[in-house]
Amino acid sequence: MTAKNTYSRYGWVSVGLHWLMAITVIGMFALGIWMRQLSYYDPWYKDGPTIHKSIGILLFLVLLARIVWRNINIRPSDDPALKAWERVTAHLTHFALYGLMLALMIAGYLISTADGRPIEVFNLFSVPATLHGIADQEDIAGEIHEILAWTLILLAGVHALAALKHHFINHDSTLLKMLGRESTMTSPQKESEL
Ligand code: HEM
Ligand code: HEM
Repeated sequence: MTAKNTYSRYGWVSVGLHWLMAITVIGMFALGIWMRQLSYYDPWYKDGPTIHKSIGILLFLVLLARIVWRNINIRPSDDPALKAWERVTAHLTHFALYGLMLALMIAGYLISTADGRPIEVFNLFSVPATLHGIADQEDIAGEIHEILAWTLILLAGVHALAALKHHFINHDSTLLKMLGRESTMTSPQKESEL
């Protein structure tokens, strides 16, 4: 498998970034829900959010790298068996997943820096507060963060079900492309369709 994408499949960088981020996002969702119900006397009460914030900032950097990589790469063609509405829905879903991840991370940053304090990322580096001191910033950003997290995880669930349906029911190349496997399709789509 080559590092870069081809018309018939994603390369190992895109595949690696997709699965690394998918696992981390699901883990971050579970960690977020779990840490919110801890009592003040729980030993994880402070460490849970510290880990959540540190992983979140690192994930933000990975997301930026992924967006750059996507834009300097070929986009693999859709399976020819896909109907027009399926292509449009899939592209809109991917766009929404990127947008939701970005917005969720920005909201998380705004909760964590609402009091003007920087975020310490695993004692490696710190990210300074920029926008802070807005009235009720922590609560408002917290509400938005929670809504975005649920929206992202539900949309990702639908997206995963669609991928599994295409693999096991339609037997097309949609999931194989994201596993780095060559699909049967080799002809590039017209530029206008990419
Ligand atoms: C993919 C990335 C992320 C996911 C899936 C995620 C998910 C969640 C979830 C589900 C909660 C619990 C919400 C609730 O019940 O109120 C939460 C809380 C929180 N998250 Fe994230 N989060 C992500 C990224 C971030 C980032 C980047 C930061 C900060 C740099 C952050 C900071 C926080 C904080 C401070 C809370 C506690 C909010 C509160 O106490 O109201 N999160 N997150
Ligand atoms: C939180 C979890 C997930 C997120 C945030 C996510 C996000 C994304 C994004 C943004 C893309 C577009 C890639 C691009 O072209 O730039 C994508 C593609 C894809 N994802 Fe996911 N994904 C997640 C989980 C899953 C799971 C669990 C599966 C399979 C069961 C899956 C299967 C696929 C497939 C097959 C593609 C390629 C679709 C195509 O090119 O037509 N994803 N994913």
